[in-house]
Amino acid sequence: MESKLKIAVLPGDGIGPEVVDTAVHVLQTIAEASDFDVETHYADVGGVALEKYDEPLPAATLDLCKSCDAVLLGAIGHPRWDNMPSDKRPERGLLGLREGLQLYANLRPAAIYPSLVSASSLKQEVIEDIDILIVRELTGGIYFGKPRGIDEENGGRGYNTMVYHKNEVERIARVAFDAARKRNNKVTSVDKANVLEVSQFWRSVVVEVAKEYPDVELNHMYVDNCAMQLVRWPKQFDVILTGNMFGDILSDEASMLTGSLGMLPSASLGSDTALYEPVHGSAPDIAGQNKANPIATIASVGMMLRYSFARIKEAEAIEQAIATVLEQGYRTQDIANGETKVVSTTEMGDLIAQQVQSLLS
Ligand code: IPM
Ligand code: MG
Repeated sequence: MESKLKIAVLPGDGIGPEVVDTAVHVLQTIAEASDFDVETHYADVGGVALEKYDEPLPAATLDLCKSCDAVLLGAIGHPRWDNMPSDKRPERGLLGLREGLQLYANLRPAAIYPSLVSASSLKQEVIEDIDILIVRELTGGIYFGKPRGIDEENGGRGYNTMVYHKNEVERIARVAFDAARKRNNKVTSVDKANVLEVSQFWRSVVVEVAKEYPDVELNHMYVDNCAMQLVRWPKQFDVILTGNMFGDILSDEASMLTGSLGMLPSASLGSDTALYEPVHGSAPDIAGQNKANPIATIASVGMMLRYSFARIKEAEAIEQAIATVLEQGYRTQDIANGETKVVSTTEMGDLIAQQVQSLLS
């Protein structure tokens, strides 16, 4: 096994730098406790990169990522760039990384920590014990389809293209079925096949791939129904397999089942260097105040240890440490209620690091 892990760290915008610092601190604590080395290499992406270099993804950043074993990203975006053309927006940096590293499979788990059931806006019986994994296709679909653009003639028009190729659907479907085998053996493929040809095609390819997995149950759901079912009875879901844009929308919705967007990690996998990031955005309103919830980023480090480095014991230690600190009643302000102890970003990080250390030593 790799003894020195080379990690590209891209803090990005808003609360990105603070949650990333906290997560790197936890990672270093783990490395010390488990006796391996971590080498971190920092680079700019998103708004900070636009400010310094006038481009959201400098070539040097992408090259650095390609040369590392894994990438940890904070968050991207700020309203300051809201009215810029799409190639001068921070989000372009993230999309460029996904494309440049060919990160076609985005895994977004939405599971609930028992001590946080009351943080959700849904009823306890609806959300307790939910454990959903959204498998979102990340380098195709309407996000990348061509033609795309804005034409000014004849009163103007804006357009994008939603297209999926057979190999793109096959490989993401396999990721979903493989994941289901390690979980509860159920895949729900989400599309809009009652209206869109691209979805009818998606569905037919998923049905073909499913034949390789006779032990996994497959069902299909239209995206509008899925949005409704997620709040009606989320326990029916195990793995949700879907395309780029539907996955973007449904993963925000699923995250709220767990009480806070600040809790959810994600992994974006391709065939080489993978990227790990919290699902939440840059939260510019609380940036720089040491208030942000670092748990999603710390849990993303857990996914990194699991998927990129097969360090399962360490990944489980992170999950366990987060659960314990929450059970002890510590909360960042986004998930706090009357009885809990509100802590800062760095304090939450220190608490989790201490737990991890005692679990691993
Ligand atoms: C996400 C985000 C991104 C997306 C944006 C920032 C480009 O919403 O990762 O879910 O739409 O994929
Ligand atoms: Mg999103």
